[in-house]
Formats: sequence, structure tokens, C-alpha cells
Amino acid sequence: MNKTKITADDIRAMKARGEKIASLTAYDFPMARLLDQAGIPLILVGDSLGMVVLGYPDTTHVTMEEMEHHVRAVARARPNSLVAADLPYHSYESPEMAVANARRLKAAGAEAVKAEGGREILPQVKAILADGIPFLGHLGMLPQHVLEEGGYHIKGKQEGEQQALIADAEALADAGAFAIVLELVSAPVARALTQRLPIPTIGIGSGRDCDGQILVTPDLLGMLPWFTLKHVKPKLNAADQMREVVREWKEGLAKPPVK
Ligand code: KIV
Repeated sequence: MNKTKITADDIRAMKARGEKIASLTAYDFPMARLLDQAGIPLILVGDSLGMVVLGYPDTTHVTMEEMEHHVRAVARARPNSLVAADLPYHSYESPEMAVANARRLKAAGAEAVKAEGGREILPQVKAILADGIPFLGHLGMLPQHVLEEGGYHIKGKQEGEQQALIADAEALADAGAFAIVLELVSAPVARALTQRLPIPTIGIGSGRDCDGQILVTPDLLGMLPWFTLKHVKPKLNAADQMREVVREWKEGLAKPPVK
């Protein structure tokens, strides 16, 4: 396990060394501590928080206050991992707003921020970077746009979408993003972007050939059996195990004590 604090530059440098970047989400102190102890270099306090912790139907309901609350909990674990946090929906409408809210996440303990989009948010990305806050891009399926898009669809199947993804990714890399999350990008396009970009691509549902992979941790642990996702095979059946342990404990209460 790496004992020194990981920076955005360290994540970027992993691409040059051909080292796969394993990234997972955390929303609280124990999960952040466990991921850090397992050697995960990049922890994301994602706005998936909305669905996997707060019970919202999608990420568009998550507020700045909720993000700050969970970033503080993660930061209290003092992980060696780099802690990135999502700027929630409608929190980066202008460069001024993006900087003010990125500063709030930084004050809560985030060491980098992520926002969804490419050239359309470039002034915001440049303003955040000019303020000295490392920036993680997010292209492909953008969950904050799920309502306009009518669902979660693979991006990059059509020529026009491929060209737009390339132009957006290059714009983010030129602006100084340290890495880009590619969500539900068709595998051949994700591979081409990975070969083309000087910064790491971190895929989710975008094939095996990205420089790294990110997952929503409760999906990996099988904690949310009511969501089934094509791109994640849970490695644990935590939901069933939890229900079983709780039932056994409850039944144990009813038994007479052993003399
Ligand atoms: O909010 C989140 O957890 C994310 C990941 C799915 C990349 O953005």
C-alpha cells in the first residue's frame, strides 16, 4: 500500500507507467478508510450518492450541502488516496459559480472536483483550474442529463457522437484536466480516446481498454439488488448476507439463554 498522499499528478503519471488506475466511490468515513487500506488511489465522492445512499431516483436531486456533508465524512478518514468530489447538478452554471462551489467542496476536504461535460463547460473547467483546484472530466453518458436523454444510453455509436467525444476529450486534456471518466462510451471509441489522449481515461461501462476503471462501490459489493447493471458483476452478495445476519441475530434474541 502506498503510504504517501496521492496527488492528481500521481494519477496522471500512472498512465505513462502503464499502471491501471482502480477507482471507487465512497460517501462515508468507514468506506473511505477501507478503500484506502485496500490501496485504491482515487476515491470519488460521486453524486451517485443521490441514488445509492439518499434514495433519490437520479443524481439531479443532489445538493451542494449534501455533497459537502459526505465529502467531510470521507475526508475524516484521512486517506492516502486522492479524494475527488462531484460538483452536483446546476452547481456550475457559470465560471464564477463553478469556482465558488469547487472551493466549497475543497473546504469540505475534496482534493479535486469532477463535473460533467466537455466544450460546453470549458470556461468553468478553466476557471476551476486557474483557481488551483485539480479537475477530473466526465464524458459519455452524463447522469445529470438523464432526464433530457430519457435514460442511460451508450455514447459514441454514431460518427457525429464519436467526433464530439474526441473534440470534448481533447479540449478537457488541453485545458489541464488530470484524467477523464468515460461513462457508457462504446468500447472501440473508449479505446481510441485512450490511445489518443495524454491523460488517463477511467472507464465505467466503456470496455476494458481504458487506463483505469471506476465503479460505484455498493454496485461492486452487491448492496443494491434492486439496481441491475450490465457493466457490473457484483463480487459480493452483501445485500443477502446482511439480511441473513440480521435475521439470525433477531431469531437469536428469542431463544432462551444457555445456562
Ligand atoms: O457519481 C458517480 O459515482 C460517478 C461515477 C459513476 C463515475 O460519477
